[in-house]
Amino acid sequence: MSKTYNVGVIGGDGTGPEVTREALKVLAVAQAKFGFKLNYTNYDFGGERYMKTGETLPDSAIEEFRKQNVLFLGAIGHPDVKPGILECGILLKARFALDQYINLRPVKLYRVEDCPLKGKEPKDVDFVVVRENTGGIYTGVGGVMQKGTQMEIATQVMIYGRPVVERCVRFAYEYTRRRNSAKKMLTLVHKCNVLTHAGDLWVRTHKEVGDRDYKDIKQDYNHVDACTMWFVKQPEWYDVIVTENLFGDIITDLAAIIQGGLGIAAGGNINPEGVSMFEPMGGSAPKYTGKNVINPLAAIAAGGMMLDTIGERTAAAAVDAAVTKALNSGKIKSLAAGRMGMGTTQVGDLVAGLM
Ligand code: IPM
Ligand code: MN
Repeated sequence: MSKTYNVGVIGGDGTGPEVTREALKVLAVAQAKFGFKLNYTNYDFGGERYMKTGETLPDSAIEEFRKQNVLFLGAIGHPDVKPGILECGILLKARFALDQYINLRPVKLYRVEDCPLKGKEPKDVDFVVVRENTGGIYTGVGGVMQKGTQMEIATQVMIYGRPVVERCVRFAYEYTRRRNSAKKMLTLVHKCNVLTHAGDLWVRTHKEVGDRDYKDIKQDYNHVDACTMWFVKQPEWYDVIVTENLFGDIITDLAAIIQGGLGIAAGGNINPEGVSMFEPMGGSAPKYTGKNVINPLAAIAAGGMMLDTIGERTAAAAVDAAVTKALNSGKIKSLAAGRMGMGTTQVGDLVAGLM
């Protein structure tokens, strides 16, 4: 009997449902070809529902999500909803409630023409960022006093405990080992020259865990500011990067643009022991909604990552190969929305046809 996986699908806002549709189109071919079944449940969380009901992501939804094997998210963000409400109420709530403690961001340049860096080719831009996804400043620990007065004070604390750092670092070492590139190197990115408490905890954990259990993997360290320069100057240095939450948020946007932008950047919010959630990195892009011009490749690639995580690794590799072939077919002119030279659905058809 073929394996069945329950997948919760949140198309979300703006162009989210459009790119989700194309990802599912490619996943349909993957199922037929590789003999497994994805059993979808659709959820309508997002800006529209919030405006109608005042509800972002109720606790009952989290309980339903727990029964799924995995989740797929199109995009969250609505022009008529104050920034922060949906991001915190849906995306961050799911990450925290489901303890998706890893944000995995492969950074891969598929075609030379999509790279804004002079002289860099696909072989030069091929690394993975493992971002810690539930700790640090994102915990919201801190407070405000005398708000609105001249004396206002506000704090937001970069909070980390050894267990949270260690599970992330271990995941990153394991991932580096499995990736098995010629470099076999795990670069810790932090700011330990200034963040002498929180940074030092990461530095020691990275070294201790590596020395003890991952002697086959080279240890490397960058300060986060220097890392942003190296991304531009010498991206070929990197194999796998591990970093804390906010630094990871910032450097993965820079990483996205050197691989060709949000049209191709995919990510996963991963709980290795629980329910993970995969998403294209681009937002809901409201101005492109319903125009069949948004690039679905990031969503398709996120679908591939989802297959990899549930254990359908051959099918996952086939999705990645089909994306590569589609981009090398010369048919897709640009990765930018509206400039692809073909429509959203046509790009989906192209990739599905190359599976
Ligand atoms: C991301 C996004 C989110 C983050 C926002 C939308 C809360 O920027 O996934 O990188 O900051 O983590
Ligand atoms: Mn971000």
